[in-house]
Amino acid sequence: MKLLLTNIKELLQIRDSTIQKVSGSDMSHLPSLKNAWLLFEDEVISDFGNMDSCPKAMDSQKIDCTGKMVLPTWCDSHTHLVYAGNREQEFVDRINGLSYQEIAVKGGGILNSAKKLQATSEEDLYKQSAKRLEEVMALGTGALEIKSGYGLTTEAELKMLRVAKQLEKQYPITIKTTFLGAHAVPAAYKDNKDGYLDLVCDEMIPKVADEGLATYVDIFCEEGYFTVADTHRVLAAGKKHGLIPKIHVNQFHAIGGVAAGVEHHALSVDHLEVLTPEDIEVLKESDTMPVALPSCSFFLGIPYTPGRELINANLPLALATDYNPGSTPSGNMNFVVATACIKMRLTPEEAINAATINGAYAMGISSTHGSITQGKSANVIITKDIPSIGYLPYAFGSNLIDKVIINGTCL
Ligand code: NIG
Ligand code: FE
Repeated sequence: MKLLLTNIKELLQIRDSTIQKVSGSDMSHLPSLKNAWLLFEDEVISDFGNMDSCPKAMDSQKIDCTGKMVLPTWCDSHTHLVYAGNREQEFVDRINGLSYQEIAVKGGGILNSAKKLQATSEEDLYKQSAKRLEEVMALGTGALEIKSGYGLTTEAELKMLRVAKQLEKQYPITIKTTFLGAHAVPAAYKDNKDGYLDLVCDEMIPKVADEGLATYVDIFCEEGYFTVADTHRVLAAGKKHGLIPKIHVNQFHAIGGVAAGVEHHALSVDHLEVLTPEDIEVLKESDTMPVALPSCSFFLGIPYTPGRELINANLPLALATDYNPGSTPSGNMNFVVATACIKMRLTPEEAINAATINGAYAMGISSTHGSITQGKSANVIITKDIPSIGYLPYAFGSNLIDKVIINGTCL
């Protein structure tokens, strides 16, 4: 099947297939073509060009994009989209003065979500998660990563990952899965964290790998959760079973987790709200993608990742939602891009690079996603009639998406 987009006001993020990520000052460029056409064939981008060379009399479906811009769909490299219920009550508790950490210490937080998830059937969990997935696809997300980590028992962790895999089967969107058994110490192991890590490393990781349920392994390296030594242990166990690290670090404290991630060749280190000069130096020597989650900072009222500093240090930066019931009950990448501009002082071009090609890199799919490149997946956002690309983050409260095409499927 062929689909031809014509009269595109501006076709954005055109990249050569050799570009896997963009760093530093290169992030301020968003290569584009004005007055363009774009052709999809069999779920991939087959060609594009200026309207002067538009294929004529072609046997294809056509979409006239007059006044509209076209860009790759968002690549959301960090979500916890599979979860049960919500944590609205904790939201109100925080409004009334409790902190996120105080709520967690009282048995709320991740443990609250784990209790709910354990009591939810796989079918129901699928239904709740599918609804969220449909919502984010309509908001322009064309590929996303989903973590486990609200199960905290072997069975419930596997259940989460099976649901994520099922979503991938049922929807055109690309989904990568991450095992995050070391998200919190469950109540049953309250005074026996090492016992829980034995379970994670000796039982959960081998099962997850055997059943092919995840590509990545993650851990919440943070005071009150897991230490740097725990991080080394879990990442090494994951790697033994072929799982690549992608970790939660430096959300509240810088305890050396970035260096641990880099040492294990983590694909990404995520959160980084608190970052030391040493962390930046360590990242400079690596291929690890720093990932900022600005809607988490927004929702919890915590500092924003110093993205400007990272880019000024000639590093790359990716943006993701962190969609989860506790710290970020939103999977809206448009809001993430706008918030990165408004609160982290990224330019619109930098934020779009961070949310497309660099997001793809942070989930290991930049050879198929994240840019307008021949042979990459037919994944694009067609905007409404907008004056310029900067208008997207500028008009942060408006839905400026006209259509979303994922793997050649027009939503
Ligand atoms: O990335 N920080 C750790 N994990 C999640 C939130 C967990 C929760 O509160 O449910 C995050 O923010
Ligand atoms: Fe997270």
